[in-house]
Amino acid sequence: MPLITPEDAVERLKRGELVAIPTETVYGLAGRIDDERALRRIFEVKSRPFFDPLIVHIENKDQAKSLAREWPPVYDTLTDAFWPGPLTLIVPKTEAVSHLITAGLETVALRSPNHPIARKILQELGVPLAAPSANRFGRTSPTRAQDVIDEFQDKIPVVDGGACEVGLESTVLRAVQEGDKWRIEILRPGGVSRDQIAHVLSQKKIPHTIIRVESKATPGHTPAHYQPESPVVIVKNNFSEEDLKKYIAARLNQNIVKLQWLTLPEDPRQAAREIYHSFRLLTGPGHAICVRLQPSHLSTDWEAVLDRLLRASVLSVENLK
Ligand code: TXA
Ligand code: MG
Repeated sequence: MPLITPEDAVERLKRGELVAIPTETVYGLAGRIDDERALRRIFEVKSRPFFDPLIVHIENKDQAKSLAREWPPVYDTLTDAFWPGPLTLIVPKTEAVSHLITAGLETVALRSPNHPIARKILQELGVPLAAPSANRFGRTSPTRAQDVIDEFQDKIPVVDGGACEVGLESTVLRAVQEGDKWRIEILRPGGVSRDQIAHVLSQKKIPHTIIRVESKATPGHTPAHYQPESPVVIVKNNFSEEDLKKYIAARLNQNIVKLQWLTLPEDPRQAAREIYHSFRLLTGPGHAICVRLQPSHLSTDWEAVLDRLLRASVLSVENLK
């Protein structure tokens, strides 16, 4: 197994190599931001299109500010509350940030991860790291070292940091000033919920609105994403197992021999922690992964899990016609 120590990871990153590192959200495929070859290799290894910008991981707010041409004051409140942690902030970039990272955009996505190994590596390296999730483009993100090995075999060395605590990606947001109010645009729901953000801003008496923005602003957050090898099917009604199996097989034009039911835990945080791992465990030849959605899943604390489920799914079944 290509497992390496954090010290070895630092040495390799210094030389411009890529390593997979644990973060509290998912494992990241990391390369130093000041090495164009390393950056190109991230896209190559992931088969990631160059139009999909990368998140830059920094140690703390000072390092973040050194890469930002502007820093909206509301970010001080957000970083005080949520950094280090699963929150990614969009800012106008400085020259130090390559256009390869930002896919030509003038903005960069910044996040300070909370995993002790990621923090130690960032601290010892002293250079920020570009790190997308360590999976092939469009596939399920890894939440265990073994998942990364399954994705890339021995091509990429991995630091084992155990199972990821959050289990799905960070919340990506951008703040826009509107008179005396901040408009918080959530580009990707994730580890920090809309309610947590609202709570912190309200406590500090900062006037704000929070909206979800589905747009080109998050270029890689495509409608089909996070997909495991076996198809994920959302089931919205009760059907006999046999009828459902036949229907899915016909609709997907695929031989389905087994329906694997994914039962979501009651607690959305636990659901987040388990979802990608469940996708991997339930994947198999001829399997379809079926998920039953409940009305409670429409509440805001389920936003991130629901987003990943819908993007991972290839079919939603309401009736068998
Ligand atoms: O939790 C996470 O965020 C993980 C861990 C490894 O930190 N990383 C991650 O990276 O999910 P990735 O590359 O899989 O997703 C990055 C997302 C993409 O949807 C991308 O489009 C968006 O961030 N993004 C990056 N830069 C952006 C920018 N300048 N403006 C808008 N969206 C941006
Ligand atoms: Mg990803």
